[in-house]
Amino acid sequence: MAQVHVLDHPLIQHKLAILRNVSTGVKEFRELISEIAGLMCYEATRNLPTEEVEVQTPVAVAKCRMLAGKKLAIIPILRAGLGMVDSMVDMIPSAKIGHIGLYRDPETHKPVEYYCKLPEDIGNRQVFVVDPMLATGGSAVAAIDFLKKHGCKQIIMMNVIGCPEGIKAVQEAHPDVEMYLAAVDERLNEHAYIIPGLGDAGDRIFGTK
Ligand code: PRP
Ligand code: URA
Repeated sequence: MAQVHVLDHPLIQHKLAILRNVSTGVKEFRELISEIAGLMCYEATRNLPTEEVEVQTPVAVAKCRMLAGKKLAIIPILRAGLGMVDSMVDMIPSAKIGHIGLYRDPETHKPVEYYCKLPEDIGNRQVFVVDPMLATGGSAVAAIDFLKKHGCKQIIMMNVIGCPEGIKAVQEAHPDVEMYLAAVDERLNEHAYIIPGLGDAGDRIFGTK
């Protein structure tokens, strides 16, 4: 079973506390999601392979390490995952970006697909799937199913807030997928919302409610 990493870094936890607050407005919410994603990116890319290179400094040759030609892709689950993309791209400017559009049916809570567009060579890339919320896990499992159908073999899932139900669903369906979360909350409520969570991430990022 691939590892589940819960990132308890003080900066992440501090920003997460403000993010959860019902009084935090759209502008600050957006900024915080992006900042947290940037910090999570730092951890989630920790095991990327590097290779030694020689660099001429103004005074001597330095033996350095650079990413070993790894092809990367960032795949936000729409809509809320979009809020995590910019700061990831700031860190990994050469990454390609794909989009998977899913929304949860309000009655069944099952994901409904409405848009998917992936880089052509996605099967050869290390993929980072990003979505602030992992609730039932239905959206994450569907997104990973879709990526695997397109040949992806190396997939890392990044969520800001998850819960035991969502983690279990991803682990059962995709035991090979490593997961990074900033927090694992207590449970889901009867509407499949994370408790205590932060409410509806998409609405809070885009100001739609
Ligand atoms: C939210 C969230 C996840 C999904 C998580 O998206 O961003 O994609 O719910 O729930 P699950 O684990 O039970 O599938 P939502 O469906 O509300 O769509 P939105 O991002 O367009 O608001
Ligand atoms: N989607 C969200 O945006 N929030 C939740 O708590 C659950 C699903």
